[in-house]
Amino acid sequence: MIVISKVKELERTVDALRAEGKSIGLVPTMGALHEGHLSLVGRCRKENDVVVVSVFVNPTQFNNKEDLRTYPRTEEADKALLDAAGCDIVFMPTVEEVYPEPDTRVFDLGAVAEVMEGAMRPGHFNGVAQIVSKLFMMVKPDRAYFGEKDFQQIAVIRQMVKAEGFKLQIVPCPIVREADGLAKSSRNVRLSAEARAEAPKIYDTLRQSLDYAATHTVAETQQWVIDTINSFPGMEVEYYQIVDGTSLMPVDNWESSDYIVGCVTVYCGGVRLIDNIAYKTPTQC
Ligand code: PAF
Repeated sequence: MIVISKVKELERTVDALRAEGKSIGLVPTMGALHEGHLSLVGRCRKENDVVVVSVFVNPTQFNNKEDLRTYPRTEEADKALLDAAGCDIVFMPTVEEVYPEPDTRVFDLGAVAEVMEGAMRPGHFNGVAQIVSKLFMMVKPDRAYFGEKDFQQIAVIRQMVKAEGFKLQIVPCPIVREADGLAKSSRNVRLSAEARAEAPKIYDTLRQSLDYAATHTVAETQQWVIDTINSFPGMEVEYYQIVDGTSLMPVDNWESSDYIVGCVTVYCGGVRLIDNIAYKTPTQC
């Protein structure tokens, strides 16, 4: 595995590999790697000749300075994990290398970027589009891999790819969970012992809501999830929205789409966790 910190060197290296006819897969990450990330690397390894992983805590997607400052950084451990997972090239640049000048680009991300995370974290998705588009321009991958825990992020990136005319395949990968159901996240290390013990109740509630939904309306199910999670000590739901899985627009009944997903954000002992569950999945998906 080679570690690259300079944009020009990254471009030169992948251009040479592409010229040899090799397919290139990219896994963009912000480091603090866990099994969720490694599952993306594993899938990328199976489907491409060359695996590129970026490890970069992107400042433009944080709308909270404290969150950026305290975001976990574990570069040496990340390199060891990536090497063992079969990564060929890890790109670990500095902020100055990626943003020699402030990035003032404003992306046309459409309605998918305005709801849920987009409404709660103004500017967040534009920042994601800035870094992901830069990585796509540098690496020019055939495929890029993203985890479905950040369900809305995938829809936003698809929209950015369409708006910018990138030619690549976006590959969504299933959420990886701890044995007790908690979705793996780099933020989980911030949970206190008490919050960690409560956190699996988020996914428990989402799963139970699948049964509840069989005999209740969308609005009732949404409210039941919010009330149930809020009843647990130290938990506060920021939003729970049941949406069309493609447009991300709220659905008002279970028949209005063949792809319906519930997306939740919960403050658990003060740590912001996200998760989601599908109520209906199109058979061809
Ligand atoms: O999902 C993430 O970790 C980040 O949003 C991403 C896609 C690596 C961009 O910084």
